[in-house]
This record gives sequence, structure tokens and C-alpha cells, in this order.
Amino acid sequence: MVKNFTGKPPIIIAHRGASGYRPEHTLAAYELAIALGADYIEPDLVSTKDGVLIARHENEISETTDVASHAEFAHRQTTKIIDGESKTGWFTEDFTLAELKRLRAKERIPQLRSQNIAYDGLLEIPTLQEIIDLAKSKSAEINRAIGIYPETKYPTYFKSIGLALETPLLATLTANGYQGVNAPVFIQSFEVSNLQDLSTKTDLPLVQLLNNSGKPNDFVVSGNERTYADLATASGLREIAKYAQAVGIHKNLLVPRDSSGKLRRRGAACRQISPTSLVTDAHAAGLLVHVWTFRNEDCFLPLDFQGNPQGEYELFFSLGVDGVFSDYPDTAGFYSTV
Ligand code: G3P
Ligand code: CA
Repeated sequence: MVKNFTGKPPIIIAHRGASGYRPEHTLAAYELAIALGADYIEPDLVSTKDGVLIARHENEISETTDVASHAEFAHRQTTKIIDGESKTGWFTEDFTLAELKRLRAKERIPQLRSQNIAYDGLLEIPTLQEIIDLAKSKSAEINRAIGIYPETKYPTYFKSIGLALETPLLATLTANGYQGVNAPVFIQSFEVSNLQDLSTKTDLPLVQLLNNSGKPNDFVVSGNERTYADLATASGLREIAKYAQAVGIHKNLLVPRDSSGKLRRRGAACRQISPTSLVTDAHAAGLLVHVWTFRNEDCFLPLDFQGNPQGEYELFFSLGVDGVFSDYPDTAGFYSTV
């Protein structure tokens, strides 16, 4: 295996828990991820009405909870513009934690993960504190440090409604003893300004997420012209290194696909995979590189690796990445050590 920046095997980040096997962002998904060998568990964080951080990928929760079947909450259905997109449904910021605890999670993609439907209706929405409690108790039980990898979701939006995520996030992490650059924590964001602000308030590792299109929402709001593509250049990465310790990149930014869904190749008979210089450039800037999102199902895989998800891991590990976000930490972990 090619040496990555740390000289250690890549870390396995359980993407929303072991979300290939359990409804995402539930304690059951996180617990299974730890049992399957994950090094870090990833909660995406949004706020409740009373300022409690909970794990959901969106603040609109009809896709991943049974909120629509709760008659007592029917009147809270509404339409909002979130990061420029009109969304209709039920929003976490309109519910107290006590109210949200009456809901139950459901599988986001039942057509693909039908085995997970068995857990629909059984599992609560967890708080950040409950996820930390699980990581700590499991770390002690199995004598292996389980890290947490929280993401601030829609930070500009939540700040605009008086529910900024960063204050309770740092307060919770501090209260739980997480401090310093070596703590088993990575704080991630698709936006830039909240990470820059966090860098003045904490030594905990920060991760700039880079998508394969578009621009950070705070840049949209402030009129900043730069895009994720600009941030992913060598000079953009050097700027990121002033406030963050890692980049979390869409995998196509490292190994682009062609229009047919195959990985881009070059050389004689187009045999060689043609990665970009992103890992080299990021490492030169002093940044770790964590890549998302690895999933076993064919519909998510490049044509080259359909039926062979392990081949995709092997490719990315060979390119020197420092970590992968995976819905299937067992598949990822096995291939990170061979
Ligand atoms: O946070 C990085 C990875 O999780 C990809 O983003 O959309 O799944 O939160 P998302
Ligand atoms: Ca995430």
C-alpha cells in the first residue's frame, strides 16, 4: 500500500453510522459501525428548537423519520428555503428535543436497502451527547479509541435563525473532555467561514469538505465568487491549511469519472487510472485527505468496480488517502489493512 500522510492505515469513518445495515444516524447504526471496526462515527448535526444538537443529514426530516404519520404534528408541515432550495416538510428547528424524541427513524433508501426496513419505527433520533456517550462507553469496553466526526449542517442558515451550531458543539465537546489537536475528533463543514471562525476558538482538528461541483453556501450568501473547484487547487489547499487540518473530498475530485460512469484513464490502451493531483497537493499543504462516500451497491460504484466494491477501496488506498467515509465499515476496514 502507498504510504499516506500519517504513515498509518487509513481511518475508517462510519458514514452516518453503518448506514448500509441500519437506518442512518441512529445509535444502532453507530453501535454496529463500532462492532464492524470503524475508527470514527459520523453524526451530521442540526439543531432542535431548544438548541440541542441532534444527528440528521437534513433539518427537514420526512425522509428519515415517521414525522408525517404523527397527526399531532401535521400543522407543523411547512415550506422553507434552505440553502437556496425550496423544501416542504417538517423541520427540526420547529420541534423541541422532547417532541423529536417521540418520532422514530426510518430507512432513507428502502428500495435499495430493504433489509433495513425491519428497523423502521424502532429507533430514536440521537443527540450528539448520546453519540459521545456511546463512543466513550464502547471505547472503554473494547479498549479501542472510537472517535467522533461531527458535521455542521447548514451553518449559515442555523446562525440566521438564532440557533448557531458551533456554540453548543464546542460546549458539548469541551464538557466531554475533547481538547487539543490529538483528540479523537474531526469537525467538518461544507462551508468555509464557520470553520475559519472555529479555528480561532478551538484546537480540535477541522475538516474542509470539498464537493465536486458548486460552491460553499456561505460564499453564495456573501457574494464570494470562488467555487469548490477553486478551493481544490494547490493554492486553494494552501489557504485551507491556514485554518483546517484535513480536507474531506468527493471521491470524483481525486479519480474523475467519464460521461459513461467509468473512471477516467490514460496511457496505452487507456489502461491507467488517471487521478488528479489532489492528494499530492493536499499533503504538500500539510492537510490530511479523507474521501466520501464509499458504498457497496452497484448504483453508487463506478462501472469499473460494479460487483467489486473492494476494488474501489484498494484503488483509493493505493493513492495515499488518509481516510474513507463508508456506509459499510466492514468492507472498508478489511481492505485498509491488506
Ligand atoms: O461529510 C462528508 C460526507 O458525509 C458527505 O457528505 O452529504 O453525506 O453529509 P454528506
Ligand atoms: Ca456528512
